[in-house]
Order: sequence, then structure tokens, then C-alpha cells
Amino acid sequence: MTADFPLHRTTRPVADDERAAALADPGFGKHFTDHMAAATWTPEDGWHDRRVGPVVPYSLHPSAAVLHYAQEIFEGLKAYRHADGSVWLFRPERNAARFAASARRLTLPVLPEEDFLASVEGLVRADEAWVPAAGGEQSLYLRPYMFASEAFLGVRPAHRVEYGVIASPAGAYFGSGVVGVTLWISAEFTRAAAGGTGAAKCGGNYAAGLAAQLEAREHGCDQVLYLDGAEHRWVEESGTMNVALVTSAGELVTPQLGTILDGVTRASVLDLAVEHGLTPVQRPISVVELAEGCASGSITEVFAVGTAAVITPITGFRGPDLSITVGGGAPGATTLALRAHLLDIQHGRVEDTRGWLR
Ligand code: COI
Repeated sequence: MTADFPLHRTTRPVADDERAAALADPGFGKHFTDHMAAATWTPEDGWHDRRVGPVVPYSLHPSAAVLHYAQEIFEGLKAYRHADGSVWLFRPERNAARFAASARRLTLPVLPEEDFLASVEGLVRADEAWVPAAGGEQSLYLRPYMFASEAFLGVRPAHRVEYGVIASPAGAYFGSGVVGVTLWISAEFTRAAAGGTGAAKCGGNYAAGLAAQLEAREHGCDQVLYLDGAEHRWVEESGTMNVALVTSAGELVTPQLGTILDGVTRASVLDLAVEHGLTPVQRPISVVELAEGCASGSITEVFAVGTAAVITPITGFRGPDLSITVGGGAPGATTLALRAHLLDIQHGRVEDTRGWLR
């Protein structure tokens, strides 16, 4: 059963000049809007206490299950302002479905799609003034999440769970923008294994990735490229982004689903590829193929895709015994064209022929 998320407007909104300053230079994940959406789940009452209200801190018992066993999931999606002032979400139904899949994997209660959509829409309506103006690449990033709040140290699915959505105006995820990023191929760390949580969007995956990310930074790289956990041979994803490559044979190739995140941007780019004269292919890519292909020119471009990262060119890879330069070290034309196409759809500058906007 679905229900409204009734709005209890804050009496202490962020001052107009402070909001304007945040919108002028949003960065990523630094500024937060006035409201949040929330709901609570218990076995007795199911989902209840749905609301959109002021952003308030949680009060948790130190034994709250999430603090010990990391029973937690999240999502990421964006709201875009179009030139006529209207505000749109991009394929939020896919986020709702993935959130439900992540919940099943982490034995959290599934939030019905209608509740996911109503909470996100309710929050965007309440904080519409926080959606950046049309014309640029900025948006309002929405972060739905769910965690085990029950005060109990036994290891079992929690009997009290909190759902929430917060919002944060967003500019470029990487300070370097579309200049191109370099990924570190760690010899030590992996992200996922068959049967694990690689396909779920759960906080634990990201916590486990921090050591690899530090290693990447120590080697002058922006992010990590994970290889598979079994053979350490196959390209998986980047932890915060999926990856794709363009071949001289006119293919857009990205690793198949399984132990990677089923990215909304990934799916969208596979769909758009055809309009750019590319054949979309989902198949294993070995690190040897990546290195040899970039060296020989049979791989012409590589890029990362994600809600936060949008489409970010990858211009190089480094590893303990490896240095790969992609396409001469500059962002590729196809990458930039796909990026512009996706942003044009999201920001309402071209017709949304696929019905992706809501
Ligand atoms: C997103 O693109 O929404 C993500 O989840 C990446 C985030 C962890 C920064």
C-alpha cells in the first residue's frame, strides 16, 4: 500500500544568501537542503510514519545494528531543472527497482516503488528552490538510503529499519571535470566475488573500497579499477562508476552484469550507443585486452559512467607493473558526444524520445 509523504515544512530554512552561495559552487555532497523524506519499518506495522520534514540528526542506541553489522543500502539519482523552470527526475523507477534488489540482498524490508517515487518527488517539491538553474550541468543529487536501527547485538535481520532521502546540489563529481581521470589497477584489493554483495548498492562495498582508493591516490590516480576476485584478470568496475570502452570495430563494450552494479547510466549509455553508430556489447574484458587494445589502437576510448560521475573520460590506467595510456591521453570524441547526448536529455535540451524523464 502506498501513502503520501506529508510535508512538515521547516521553520528554519537555510538563509537565501547561503543557499545562493551553495548553488553557485555546489561541488559534490557538501551542501544539504532544508528537508529530508523518511519512513520507519517494523515487523508489526510495516512501513509507517512516512513524512517529509526538516533535516534532523538521528538518535540511535549504540547497539543499533547498522553500527555493528552494516545492514545498510543506498541509491543515487538526480533532479534536473529545464529551461522552462520545470524539474525532472531521470529514470527513478530503475533506482527504485535496484533499491528493492539491494534490500533483498541485505535482508532489509523492500520499500514499494510507489513509496520510493513519492518520497523522492515529495522531497524535490519541498526543496525545489535547491534545484540548480537550467543552462549548466548542475543538478540536485538525491540520496535515498535504508539502515537497521534496531538496538540489538544478535546477528539477524533487524526488526526496526529507517528509510530516508536527503538532497544535495551537485556540480562535477571529479574536480577535473571532463579533462579525464586515471584509474589505479590494484594488485591487492578486489571489490566483489560471485555470491557476494557486488551487485548491491550497500555501504559495506564502499567502506571496503576506501583502502584501494587511498592506494590509488598514493599513486597519483583518481580512482580504482577493480579486477575480478577469482582470477584477478577481468575488468569489473570502479567502485563509484561502471566502465565502458569504444573499439575501432565500432563497439561499445562494457563488462556483463553479475558482480558489478547495474548502473542506470550504464544501461542508458548502452541504449544511446546505437544512435552513435556503435554496437552495444556486454562481455568480459580482460586487463590484457585493455592494455594491448589501448596500445594497438583497437580500443580507442575508455570512459566511466555513473549518476555522480555522469560520463567521465578515462585517459589512463596505472598499476604496480603497468601503465596504459588511452587514445593519446585526451578525452575521445565519442565519449564527449555520448556525454553531451545524455546531458541534453537529462537537462531537457533534446526531446526525451525514450520516456526517461519523470
Ligand atoms: C552515484 O553515482 O550515485 C554513486 O553512488 C556514486 C557515489 C558513491 C558517489
